[in-house]
Amino acid sequence: MSLLEENQATDLETMVGLSRRRFISAGALCGAAMFLGGNLLSRSVLAASVSAANSNLLGFASIPAATHDTLTLPPGYRASVLISWGQPLHAQGPAFDPSGNGSAEHQELQFGDNNDGMSLFPFPGDDNRALMAINNEYTNYRYLYPHGGMPQSAADVHKAQACEGVSVIEVQRKGDQWQFVQGSPYNRRIHGNTPIRVAGPAASHALLKTSADPKGQTVLGTFQNCANGKTPWGTYLTCEENFTDCFGSSDPQQTFDAAQKRYGAVATSKEINWHPHDPRFDLAHNPNELNRHGWVVEIDPFDPTSTPVKRTALGRFKHENAALAETHDGRAVVYMGDDERGEFIYKFISRDRINHTDAKANRDLLDHGTLYVARFDAGDNNPDHPKGQGQWIELTHGQHGIDASAGFADQAQVLIQARLAASVVGATRMDRPEWIVVSPTDGQVYCTLTNNAKRGEDGQPVGGPNPREKNVYGQILRWRTEGDDHGADTFGWDLFVVAGNPAVHAGTAKAGSSNINPQNMFNSPDGLGFDDAGRLWILSDGDYSNAGDFAGMGNNQMLCADPATGEIRRFMVGPVGCEVTGISFSPDQKTLFVGIQHPGENGGSTFPEHLPNGKPRSSVMAISRIDGGIVGA
Ligand code: FEO
Ligand code: CA
Ligand code: CA
Repeated sequence: MSLLEENQATDLETMVGLSRRRFISAGALCGAAMFLGGNLLSRSVLAASVSAANSNLLGFASIPAATHDTLTLPPGYRASVLISWGQPLHAQGPAFDPSGNGSAEHQELQFGDNNDGMSLFPFPGDDNRALMAINNEYTNYRYLYPHGGMPQSAADVHKAQACEGVSVIEVQRKGDQWQFVQGSPYNRRIHGNTPIRVAGPAASHALLKTSADPKGQTVLGTFQNCANGKTPWGTYLTCEENFTDCFGSSDPQQTFDAAQKRYGAVATSKEINWHPHDPRFDLAHNPNELNRHGWVVEIDPFDPTSTPVKRTALGRFKHENAALAETHDGRAVVYMGDDERGEFIYKFISRDRINHTDAKANRDLLDHGTLYVARFDAGDNNPDHPKGQGQWIELTHGQHGIDASAGFADQAQVLIQARLAASVVGATRMDRPEWIVVSPTDGQVYCTLTNNAKRGEDGQPVGGPNPREKNVYGQILRWRTEGDDHGADTFGWDLFVVAGNPAVHAGTAKAGSSNINPQNMFNSPDGLGFDDAGRLWILSDGDYSNAGDFAGMGNNQMLCADPATGEIRRFMVGPVGCEVTGISFSPDQKTLFVGIQHPGENGGSTFPEHLPNGKPRSSVMAISRIDGGIVGA
């Protein structure tokens, strides 16, 4: 048992069947934080006590970096497990089998692996009951199979596909704790073989037709589901990210066209290796299957029989998340990042207005509209706080050179090959755009640019919102649209923070902007979330070696920022080998749900159960204050 934990029974944990019960208490944390840390601790305590007076929004003291296999929180906070990989969704199981011998059919009835983005949907009129839709991005073969290696059979591949996609679960508040409701009729898995309808301009296009689906209208599965969006009409958007990694070719000499190459097609599947055992993923036989993934998928969580829909009007790329906003004249805006080195930031604006009184009237809203891509100017080159202007450029067939002369036959092809179209119009190549969020208080938009070790090479100029060569730390970009209208074509941008390591380096380029110090430093900002009061929560997916450029940063973590003052404090540190990703809040803002993905991805973790020789399990954690107050306040 870790220094930072104590056992404490709850109804929740009895219900979810954890063999050991965990809470992280204020007292234990306080003692542990003082015990750990050494020199880092003394600096942190000083910094926190000084900075605590600076922000009216942030009501907790920043905690030190840590490298332990547990969650670390500020004094006065506690955490419990809401749900973990493999937990049965239905009344009769099947139970999680730590041996790895469980079947694909079992996994299809269990919570998926590597939870990522998530949204909470309260039941109308009942803030103590909600559905949560939670992405399951990928799986860890090391823990999934008894053999711990690449898939060796069709059954192995089927099981991996069953781990991915989306889990919809019911949660209820009992007393002061939110609990997963096993057996709820709303509980549902959408996975790598679930039938999904294709809608929007690319539906039925020749590039989407396969021998199994000659009409190009029904795709099997959504997978590599990274982050998410929540629409004002009560549906969930799940975003397909590294889909190309699932494909390979049985022909090692296969050559690929420009579009296939741009989306990363290779004969040797990276890491995932489904194609030797599932011909659907063999590009030698099914090249168009690749075009049927890389979309945003819309799900109605309140209708467990509904068919999810791939919304092709939003474009095909390696989608990170989908941030919803509204134009002054009432149309839906979806901001989206394409997470690959040198790829772009997009927005979609619907043709029609959102109907705020009849949710079902918005059923096809995301099928009609215009896709845009962002172009940023060089800015003022202020090393600490660069800022400048930018514009959105329409990606419509027949405009800005996107036509037959550039290889585009029609609008469907523009959407299927959105990366190529965006290059035609001169979009700005970014440092791996990850999450985008819209401030609930002033409408400014924030986007994590997680890192880009290739910046300065490969035709990616240094400057503007991507100011650093070989950028290993990342930055957070912010923009404000003209007239504060998300429908405007122009915007002003600045960098909210440039991450770095001031304990190791001097100078902004490597030490970071002036709101980074040795007590709050982090690398590779990824997940983002605003609470209702406008606190900006920052989740990291970075280098957790705690050495070299990253010395003193510890495990991946969650921080909280005051957007007005720029102050950033460390709120939580995750367990060994994890990424912190996925964030949501209870309606009363007194519980923060956060995802711990792939703890122990390279070994060294048994989080969260800490059983002897136990497996680590990706989990959704529920964090609250012991005094029942609002998280972060
Ligand atoms: Fe799934 Fe770009 O993170
Ligand atoms: Ca991410
Ligand atoms: Ca990432």
